[in-house]
Amino acid sequence: MVFGAILAGGTGTRMGLDKPKQFLMLGEKPIIIHTVEKFLLCQELDQIFVGVHPDWMIYTEDLLAKYIHTDKKVILVAGGKDRNETIFNIVERIEEMYGESEEHILVTHDSVRPFVTLRMLHDNIEAAKKYGACDTVVAAIDTIVVSEDGEVIKDIPNRKNMFQGQTPQSFNMSMLKKLYYELSIEEKEILTDACKICVVRGVSVKLVRGEISNIKITTVDDMKMAQAML
Ligand code: CTP
Repeated sequence: MVFGAILAGGTGTRMGLDKPKQFLMLGEKPIIIHTVEKFLLCQELDQIFVGVHPDWMIYTEDLLAKYIHTDKKVILVAGGKDRNETIFNIVERIEEMYGESEEHILVTHDSVRPFVTLRMLHDNIEAAKKYGACDTVVAAIDTIVVSEDGEVIKDIPNRKNMFQGQTPQSFNMSMLKKLYYELSIEEKEILTDACKICVVRGVSVKLVRGEISNIKITTVDDMKMAQAML
């Protein structure tokens, strides 16, 4: 089966407002609702899960009841203390409901990337089925400069080898779970990106083409950009 995992367990500290950024209004509905709607349109997803900060579960439940009118149920799961923990709380819930399988595919996505497209979701599902893991990326437009101390340049890698990571990131669920549960506590703290867990363990991750428009809303400026794009 193919499962959507929308990650909304963060509190948006960089936005600095009184509610997590995924609940801010973008046009006529909250950001998270735009994202859930995109996932609901994707016929290839069998079930959609949303990982939400424990303090915001009832609030999110109310939002879904207000804005989403469909027979397809969206299941809320309490998020964890970091992004990967939120993913694995969802994985645990999926296995409670549907059992373990070598075939399950998990499409993880930031709730704060409402401009994800059906094409990206489709390409992710195909790539995760074929390769086991994939990341959505765009080619770097600016030259990427490496600095270890934030003071001087250490290296300037060839731009044609540089990409910017977005989401969705999609995986064969049992493969990802095996890698994650093998990590030490220290590794779990460092490997905050699910694709990086694969990379450090030598599992290749296929690149899927993203879009510049698939922005992650992080700051007040991103919010202005998102309003303009809408
Ligand atoms: N996320 C999550 N569980 C966490 C932390 C983050 O599901 N424990 C989600 C966020 O809700 C967001 C996505 O991961 O949709 C990307 O994270 P980020 O943009 O860093 O969101 P926040 O952690 O909310 O923001 P900030 O870092 O500014 O606090």
